[in-house]
Amino acid sequence: MIGKACRPRARSRGADVRVALAAVVLLLLWQGSVGTIRSSSAPEGAQASQNLVRHGRDVYLAHCAVCHGESGDGNGMAAHMFRIRPRDFRRGLLKFRSTPSGSLPTDDDLLQTVTQGIRWTGMVGRADLPESDRKAVVQYLKTFSPRFAAERPASRVAVPPAPPKSRNLMAEGLRLYRDAECAKCHGDRGIGDGPSAPGMKDDWGWPTRPSDLTWRPLKRGSAPAEIYLTIATGLSGSPMPSYGDSLDGQEIWALVSYLESLVSIEHRLSPLRQLGEEQAGWMVVRMHGMMGPSMMGPGIMRRMPRMPMMR
Ligand code: HEC
Ligand code: HEC
Repeated sequence: MIGKACRPRARSRGADVRVALAAVVLLLLWQGSVGTIRSSSAPEGAQASQNLVRHGRDVYLAHCAVCHGESGDGNGMAAHMFRIRPRDFRRGLLKFRSTPSGSLPTDDDLLQTVTQGIRWTGMVGRADLPESDRKAVVQYLKTFSPRFAAERPASRVAVPPAPPKSRNLMAEGLRLYRDAECAKCHGDRGIGDGPSAPGMKDDWGWPTRPSDLTWRPLKRGSAPAEIYLTIATGLSGSPMPSYGDSLDGQEIWALVSYLESLVSIEHRLSPLRQLGEEQAGWMVVRMHGMMGPSMMGPGIMRRMPRMPMMR
């Protein structure tokens, strides 16, 4: 059979014409289809992003709404369990960004928060969810605030390479810690007891306090480059200001170096430990996963014991 099919056949003139005609028809069809693909590529892209947002909505309702609320107002049925409240997404204010103060975060910033979580808080990292789910939910989060449709995030703040550690660098950091008035909020020893600390509120009206900087991890993690970004970009929505305009790269690294010197070995906790409100966060995630949204009424959450707080 195979041998027969491969054998060249003598063709008639009529067959040649038919082949030529078929080729012309195919060519026209091909051009036509290229034309339609070109002209319809924008709506197809829009369709794809609509599907992504729709998928993100499913992920959000299954994994996030229990804390952040169906409408993204930060008032889900488990929200009241946490001293550090789930974010209200409607104003588009996000703390942990790689972008300058006042800018929206990038998609990657949001993906990093969803993946790694925010240490010490109920916002536990969901690296266990497939990346496609995490990417989709990031697109859905952006629909809660009109800012994302109206603005583009500014470009990332460049983190220059860290200068070598030295006594001078650390001494410069101590000087800046005082001059830039970090101590007003974080206190002379960095434990969060500065004169401005009492009664502090965030932009959503919730009580907040300057971090105790003598522990690692901090909310954003332990990496010096993360601490650099916090100082350079500020934490939008919280009283923590941005120093990106007033300090240069060397000065910010000097501050990071000084802050590192405040951390004793006993205060460097294993990143694998559950810290602060993380335990309660996992409990909510697990119970919610087990029982489904309809089973878990607010009453169940209210009967849960409050978790002891590390700080
Ligand atoms: C158990 C409660 C809980 C669940 C479930 C939860 N979060 Fe959060 N989330 C929080 C809390 C608490 C904060 C605020 C932390 C802070 O301000 O330091 C937060 C903050 C955030 C932020 C703001 C980060 C920033 O830079 O300001 C994003 C984004 C976020 N959550 C996304 C999600 C997504 C997406 C999901 C679902 C996959 C989710 N969260 C599930 C509790 C939760
Ligand atoms: C007006 C008060 C105020 C000043 C001034 C201030 N901070 Fe903060 N800072 C805060 C608050 C409040 C937080 C906690 C934010 C949160 O967790 O939501 C914070 C958090 C931080 C964090 C921890 C971020 C994390 O990942 O948990 C670092 C690091 C930090 N500040 C460094 C500094 C340095 C360095 C300076 C001076 C250059 C400074 N802060 C000045 C109020 C302040």
